Amino acid sequence: MCGIVGAISKNRNVLPILITGLKNLEYRGYDSSGVAYLKNNKINIVKTSGKIINLENKLNKSDESNIGIAHTRWATHGKANSINAHPHRVNHITLVHNGIIENYEELKEMLIDNNYSFKSSTDTEVATALLDYYYEKFNDIDKAISEFMKKVIGSYAITMIVDNDLDSLYVLKKESPLVIGISDNANVVASDIRAVLKYTNKYYILDDFEYAKVSSNEVIIKDIKGDILKKELHAINVEDNDISKNEYKHYMLKEIMEQKSTILKTVKPYIEKGIDSLLILPDLTKYKEISIIGCGTAYHAGLVAKYLFEEVTNTRCNVYLASEYRYQNSFLSKDTLTIFISQSGETADTISSLKLVKSKNCPTLGIINVENSTISLLVDKCLYTKAGVEIAVASTKAYTAQVALLSILALSHGLRNKTIKEDDVLKVIEEFNNIEKLITTLLNNKDMYLTIAKKLYKEEDIFYIGRGLDYYLSMEGALKLKEISYIHSESYAAGELKHGTISLIKKNTPVLASATNNKLNAKTISNLKEVMARGASVYLITNTNYKDNTFTIVNIPKSSDFLKALLVIIPYQLIAYYTALLKGTDIDKPKNLAKSVTVE
Ligand code: G6P
Repeated sequence: MCGIVGAISKNRNVLPILITGLKNLEYRGYDSSGVAYLKNNKINIVKTSGKIINLENKLNKSDESNIGIAHTRWATHGKANSINAHPHRVNHITLVHNGIIENYEELKEMLIDNNYSFKSSTDTEVATALLDYYYEKFNDIDKAISEFMKKVIGSYAITMIVDNDLDSLYVLKKESPLVIGISDNANVVASDIRAVLKYTNKYYILDDFEYAKVSSNEVIIKDIKGDILKKELHAINVEDNDISKNEYKHYMLKEIMEQKSTILKTVKPYIEKGIDSLLILPDLTKYKEISIIGCGTAYHAGLVAKYLFEEVTNTRCNVYLASEYRYQNSFLSKDTLTIFISQSGETADTISSLKLVKSKNCPTLGIINVENSTISLLVDKCLYTKAGVEIAVASTKAYTAQVALLSILALSHGLRNKTIKEDDVLKVIEEFNNIEKLITTLLNNKDMYLTIAKKLYKEEDIFYIGRGLDYYLSMEGALKLKEISYIHSESYAAGELKHGTISLIKKNTPVLASATNNKLNAKTISNLKEVMARGASVYLITNTNYKDNTFTIVNIPKSSDFLKALLVIIPYQLIAYYTALLKGTDIDKPKNLAKSVTVE
């Protein structure tokens, strides 16, 4: 979602840092952008709707500045136009903001009573005016920030320039990520350190209710009381955070292809020394049950884990959508381990659910891709997936890394609670050691996926069905397709078709299914026959020898339960990719979607 970059330097022009930074944040999703910088001792603001190229075209090419702030906005309050775009300026204060000010209407009324007027429909302009109001009142920026933090309800990462202190950037943080990168040349503020990795890999993380004064040679971080804090300086590995597209047309295809190595990389520490290394993983036998929480694709990864924990290790496991969990009766207990799955580690609903569980002192575990992200720092214990940076909005390699790590966690649990024999555990480890070969074979089956995509891309409604684990995989398959091709695609438990959905089947309606469970395959195939009898075109992904020349069949290798999800999902991902390619959509940045959803 929204992105922030700010930079300050003694002798360097920071405008290229701001623009490159914004471009690096583009993948997160946005619909307008803007920049503010010091020009002839005055703040100059340039804003546009649409892509960053529009902003670049509007900027005076010869302008240079030593201090500036920039923003990509994903519209929440007010349309995606240049008035609502950030930066906002009210009297002495110019700022950019990520997050949502929940009590902005009440604050706006108070400010209007105090003679403030507003040009935009945003909550951010209200935040700007409120900071100005307190700054006028106290004539002291520390006091103004402290009062602001006490008064505002909601989330914010703010970077601002204060007119009477043009040698500093001020940054404030609550529930929305913000880091301060330092280098000899320039100090840079960003909502994601990876946006400014070209300039520095060393950074401070701000915690909630902390703020900082960033000048060209110094960073002073304070708490809400104004007391100076001593913070740890972090460093990020530049190589692991490579964001080049290489020879690929889309990041999504590059990321799908990378799965031949990312899955093994993620599980390797836990299998390289056989059974011994599996036991490095947390011991789950002390818990009666497991809860899993996530959003979107992460939620779907949780469902795969539910299948393994329940069906293979005989351990009860419930999976919740974070946006629902945070507002429902969660029946929390110390006997339940709650696992939070998130690629970014910054998803607002997942963070709120985590805070809820922590407030009751119940145990938590994170499965997170981004190091030092909010969730990774809040959970009791964090296991990192090693997918590397995922740029395409539609998640692929992060999902398979999550599934792989959860599968290995379930395997180690099965070993500990003796629901899986040691010999069988060793066989699964062997399978994981061979996974690169299996995945490569599936990735190379391009002609098959393209043939299917040619049949799908002109369709308006597509159905995905399955039973058990295959039902959970059909949910992820349908999500991939709708996210990037904009074709309406839905997933249903195959047994539910007759209870309603079958009325939607007409001549040539595509129905996709996977069948990888000997106990359920015949039933799924019967359901496919039922839809075929009503005119549907049927596509089946299976690891059986099932032959039927009225179906289009994608064969995948046979495997234990622990690898099935990884093998089924590759065809689903590539079918979605090629369908979107034929439709000509913006595959890496689908309309209206954001990579990291930092508001609820
Ligand atoms: C957004 C992204 C999805 C992702 C979901 C959860 O919807 O577009 O790809 O699955 O957020 O994100 P997280 O970072 O928590 O895994």
